[in-house]
Amino acid sequence: MRNAPFEVRPIAGALGAELHGVDLARDLADATVGAIRQALLDHLVIFFRDQELSPERFLSLARRFGTAIEYPFVKGIDGFPEIINVTKLEHETINFGGVWHSDTTYLEEPPMATLLVAREVPDAGGDTLFANQYLAYETLSEKLRGLLAGLRGVSSSAKADASRTREDRIRTDGSAAARKLLVAEHPAVRTHPETGRKALYVNRAHTVGFAGMTEEESAPLLEYLFRHQIRPEFTCRFRWTAGALAIWDNRCAQHYAVNDYAGRRRIMQRITLAGDRPN
Ligand code: SIN
Repeated sequence: MRNAPFEVRPIAGALGAELHGVDLARDLADATVGAIRQALLDHLVIFFRDQELSPERFLSLARRFGTAIEYPFVKGIDGFPEIINVTKLEHETINFGGVWHSDTTYLEEPPMATLLVAREVPDAGGDTLFANQYLAYETLSEKLRGLLAGLRGVSSSAKADASRTREDRIRTDGSAAARKLLVAEHPAVRTHPETGRKALYVNRAHTVGFAGMTEEESAPLLEYLFRHQIRPEFTCRFRWTAGALAIWDNRCAQHYAVNDYAGRRRIMQRITLAGDRPN
């Protein structure tokens, strides 16, 4: 089987590219999957427009890129435990993921990548921002990079910055483990297992401190890194349309769901793919 070649159009200088000419609802040749994966490694987050993906197709697509796993706190949709709704309804005020983060870094093996498909979006608003963590690392001074080489960040699922953003979803779709505390320790700088590049790996949503230091001792350096790692020149912004799909690499990119569509609804579905233990 062969698929026609697709076009890659970067959407910003730092990261992000739209891929045009791929119909993800069709069976994809191994070569096409390989080329999409390479585009993900090159651009950190990739986007597709106007895809018609039933939950079955969405899941089978995700499985071409890795092993789909269940999100720890929110139940999957009926018949598909690996797919969660990321919804904000007209009367709700809090949006899921409205804080800079890499997904679930409080797991020992945080997800490698995430797929998010837009089912219904407001006419304007509800964009998602992404930030390149290779650039965040590479633009630090040599001294600070040296210091970070010896530090491990502690991530907790209970940090208020993140836990308040999932309250509405836990209320409606919470899993049995919704209130469980999960904590994991990872290098503050990780080496990407496929590209070999180093990326800053702390995030405002989940990192509470450095191992061996108190939260108070850790806070000033963490605060500096949280502000540095999302500098505008490291970011891109994606404007959703119904049927658009994003795939991002959690090992080297962070994301932030913008909450600027009060009174309107935004309905998305999400799958995460198993990752490895960061090194
Ligand atoms: C998320 O953090 O997975 C949600 C991103 C979004 O809804 O844009």
